[in-house]
Amino acid sequence: MKRIITVFLIAATLLAGCAAPAPATVTPSLPPATGTTPAAPIYKDASQPVSARVDDLLGRMTLDEKIGQMTQAETNGLTTTADDVTAMYIGSVLSGGGSIPSNQAQDWQALVDRFQDRALATRLGIPLIFGLDAVHGNAHVYGATVFPHNIGLGAANDPALMEKIGQVTAAELMASDVPWNFAPVLAVPQDTRWGRTYEGYGESTGLVSSLGAAYLKGLQAFPEGYTPSAGQTLFVLATPKHFLGDGGTAYGSSKQNIIRPYLLDQGDDKMDEATLRALFLPPYKAAIDAGAQSIMVSFSSWNGTKMSANKHLLTEVLKGELGFKGFIISDWGSIDQVSGDYYQAVVTCINAGVDMNMVPTDYKRFISTMQTAAANGDIPQARIDDAVRRILAVKFELGLFEHPYPKLDTLAQVGSDAHRAVARQAVQKSLVLLKNDPKTLPLSKDTPLIFVAGQAADDIGMQSGGWTIEWQGKTGAIDPGTTILGGIQAAVKPGGTVLYDRSGQFDNAVDAKGKKVSVADVGIVVVGEQPYAEGVGDSSDPGLSSVDAALIDKLRPLSKKLVVVIVSGRPLVITPQLSKIDALVAAWLPGSEGQGVADVLFGDVPFSGKLSYSWERTNSQLPINVNNLGSKTGCDAPLFPFGFGLGTDDPPVPIPNCP
Ligand code: BGC
Ligand code: BGC
Repeated sequence: MKRIITVFLIAATLLAGCAAPAPATVTPSLPPATGTTPAAPIYKDASQPVSARVDDLLGRMTLDEKIGQMTQAETNGLTTTADDVTAMYIGSVLSGGGSIPSNQAQDWQALVDRFQDRALATRLGIPLIFGLDAVHGNAHVYGATVFPHNIGLGAANDPALMEKIGQVTAAELMASDVPWNFAPVLAVPQDTRWGRTYEGYGESTGLVSSLGAAYLKGLQAFPEGYTPSAGQTLFVLATPKHFLGDGGTAYGSSKQNIIRPYLLDQGDDKMDEATLRALFLPPYKAAIDAGAQSIMVSFSSWNGTKMSANKHLLTEVLKGELGFKGFIISDWGSIDQVSGDYYQAVVTCINAGVDMNMVPTDYKRFISTMQTAAANGDIPQARIDDAVRRILAVKFELGLFEHPYPKLDTLAQVGSDAHRAVARQAVQKSLVLLKNDPKTLPLSKDTPLIFVAGQAADDIGMQSGGWTIEWQGKTGAIDPGTTILGGIQAAVKPGGTVLYDRSGQFDNAVDAKGKKVSVADVGIVVVGEQPYAEGVGDSSDPGLSSVDAALIDKLRPLSKKLVVVIVSGRPLVITPQLSKIDALVAAWLPGSEGQGVADVLFGDVPFSGKLSYSWERTNSQLPINVNNLGSKTGCDAPLFPFGFGLGTDDPPVPIPNCP
């Protein structure tokens, strides 16, 4: 029997190797039964080592089946043609931002399982792997726990908490049968004008390394009480992204235009290799040491060459030098950007080391191009086999062959109180106190009268930012949770009055006893940025909007003490308003648990966050960060340096009087 299998394997490999381009499919028949019960194929035997299962399965696969494994299509491209998953052996499906079946967790599960049905209907029954961007919790899903974006988690700088956030996110993903998360972002943003600044933990390489690895561990680890199948080593697959140089693109170097022209996103890193490595490689080393098994390539270029086409970085450095054993996935259609000639683009990128192509919609073109390139010998069979081996190994490590439908029956955990408590703690730890004139913060819960104003005060969508329900995020009550206003209202003791008006109209304000009031003990203005994602958020001038600046002016005379909370994906120029403000708090993009902001404003929890990005004094200082700061001091230095963050007992920090 063993000999027959071996002979069959060799034959199958040879056949696969010289298969003609589509549509002809070479189908190696299963080995004949030699007597009694035929033994189960090795690849289906969970007690076999992963390498033996991969070898066995690869040996049975046709070229078309292999190319299918290298293809990741998008739900929108497949919803009317889900049968293509079977017909074209598609190995992976993703949902892009805002690409949703409906937002309920159970609908997501049904969607994933429907695609899985199609994959299991193929000859060899290779399960597909479904992935999406749960970059701050599984925020595609209505009612999921939405964590602060990474900029806030960088300010919190708590690796143990990051691990916990990874676990919660994994649990909420697996409740919908999604075993793959395109996170963590290991960008080291050097210029806060970049629209993805908030997706990065901070401007310091060391900070990104430690937080990214901790989160990855949490995502991939088995939860307590979970019984993995034999050989399973991963719970949810993490994908550190975007390799390499993410956050280093030069201002003005982007050629992309989606919704509006980009400035930095998908642009060019102009630096030598030593600098590129020093700034951006250590987080990947840390992630690989922590068990990373898939990595996404950056849209960006390095000195004019797209990363997806860079064999030196993908194959020599990542797979060779760093010993990365998992698979490399492209970014969304990023291979298409490599050359106007699609055939050339595919050949270049696959040969450079990309193992799976996030197509995302035109999978037919990719598959037929691969078939032609393989038939022409432009992509060697060995390269295809290497890519497929890497992908299959991860599928085995995820236990997908044993549990293609995880169905853990944990839908009730999505947005549960226990999960929200973790997010609330993350919010508390992420807040950075930038200014506090004596005795402004913490606020007393007995404060008789508080005015609250500002566009971000009562808006879950704004405080959640991009990658929430929609790709670009959305303002308004898009998700359940607590707004910052809701948190303040809950914190104040009975007898105190909290009055809210978005645009600060308090002309006819009356207190709890119905008495007309004109000046509050405390005014809280919550200003900030409208939601955005990726290059759509690139900005030439990150600062307060004129409406927000005017609102601060308006509330100043109406408030004995004026507190300003900034809800934003990056530092915003605030210098002109600073002298009018008694206490200034950076709240970043806190997510669904706005209560965490009030917890700290009212002193239930002390301020502990420290800036993970330098806070510019003026727009003309940008880019400014720990790596280019040199010996700048005084008015040339940032307004608030990297690592800055006050406690409420700290003495006020003198601000230099600059022109
Ligand atoms: C982003 C990636 C993301 C992918 C899938 C791309 O536009 O750059 O970070 O994983 O889309 O949504
Ligand atoms: C998708 C995102 C993707 C983006 C890239 C959007 O349509 O929803 O996931 O990152 O396109 O352009």
